[in-house]
Amino acid sequence: MSVNHDVMDNSSRLILHRTSREDVAGGISIMVKGDGVRITDKAGKSYLDLVAGVTRPVHIGYGREEVAKAAYDQMCQMHYVSPCGNANEPAMELADVLARITPGDINRFTFECSGSEAVETAMKLAKHYHYFRGNKGRYKIISRKGAYHGVNGYGVRALGTVMPMRQMMEPVAPGAVYVEPPYCYRCPYGLSYPACDLKCATDIERTIEFEGPELISAFIGEPVMQGFGAISPPREYWPMVRGICNKYDIMLIIDEVICGFGRTGKMFGVEHFAIQPDMITMAKGISSGYIPLGAVGCSDKVLEPIDNFFHLHTYGNHPVACAAALKNIEILEQEDLISKSQKMGRYFLDGLKSLEQHAIVGEARGRGLWLALDFTTDKKTRALFPPDRINNIINRAKQLGLIIKTMGHALEFAPPLIIQKTEIDEALDILERCLAIEEKEMGF
Ligand SMILES: Cc1ncc(COP(=O)(O)O)c(C=O)c1O
Repeated sequence: MSVNHDVMDNSSRLILHRTSREDVAGGISIMVKGDGVRITDKAGKSYLDLVAGVTRPVHIGYGREEVAKAAYDQMCQMHYVSPCGNANEPAMELADVLARITPGDINRFTFECSGSEAVETAMKLAKHYHYFRGNKGRYKIISRKGAYHGVNGYGVRALGTVMPMRQMMEPVAPGAVYVEPPYCYRCPYGLSYPACDLKCATDIERTIEFEGPELISAFIGEPVMQGFGAISPPREYWPMVRGICNKYDIMLIIDEVICGFGRTGKMFGVEHFAIQPDMITMAKGISSGYIPLGAVGCSDKVLEPIDNFFHLHTYGNHPVACAAALKNIEILEQEDLISKSQKMGRYFLDGLKSLEQHAIVGEARGRGLWLALDFTTDKKTRALFPPDRINNIINRAKQLGLIIKTMGHALEFAPPLIIQKTEIDEALDILERCLAIEEKEMGF
């Protein structure tokens, strides 16, 4: 592949996060404008963005001046308030809104700068909870293999993160315990649902007994899991995990960093499973990416024993970020984007299901507007698909004006929640063409 020198020259001044030399050689686009569900690069080429900014935060779409205005107004009035011994009105108002829309008795909040920080904060809160109740030894945390919970200490090193991200940072933080994910299409136990009796859930209890319940502080997981591509577990899974956590007094932290704020067709992903988490972590859709913001929500039960939460950073509870998030959530609610995510998600999934007729498509799945196409070279054995073949599909789609991304052996889709049927049709048409070419090249 030829090197795009214009891009190389420009990007050589940057550290490009999660971008390989090969990616740079292939041509990193410099994106300069966003409007609705489309973005435009510096050369003037427009793309339909089917992954809401690749890391998928852009729920309300690009170019929403209302959010910019809310941030501007707050900057002019009071741009910074120390989180230490002070409060500020946007943060308090945002906490009120979140207490209304988060599940059940989650009603206390702290605001961070990212999802990774939110995860770290939740881990610390779990340890504080046990510590102040006299359980000082609970240092272990359980997460699922293949999960992703951020780039900081606990997130990247302790929480199941896929190779090579975790491998490069090993040895991991002490106390990392991994269990198998509920990935039914390629079940880690080689079983099939429902005959499996949810071994992925029952094994958690066996792991706890093996590790020592008195040493475990928390279990963390996404309601619908990003690893392997939009994995929605069987409906019994989360109630079983909740029951096991109750039995051993283990905090259940539900990571809503991607699922939260309508991505899966409910305001929060955990609502699909009717369980009450002890804590939730949030980011991305909380501000639709207009400004960095993460948050942790917990119930009174979690805070009640904690005399002092030893946690402070300069930009905690940032008033400008909170003001922007308030406007973002107002738009999500006013434009009914949560039920639109459900409706458009169904329409999109039907379209993806029709692609299952391709020889290389194993399964179309997902919830709301978080969907995936899992590929295989053999539908019967569900053999893994070569990653470079998925990259071919992604690169070809980009040439045709469609931005999609890979996740495991799947393609992932997470468009802004404002996407219309015509745009979904356009995306499906491009996808169909790209799959047909790849399939032919592979000799199917
Ligand atoms: C489930 C989950 N948790 C945590 C994070 C970390 O969030 P951030 O990238 O905002 O630090 C991510 C990021 O993608 C995520 O998907």
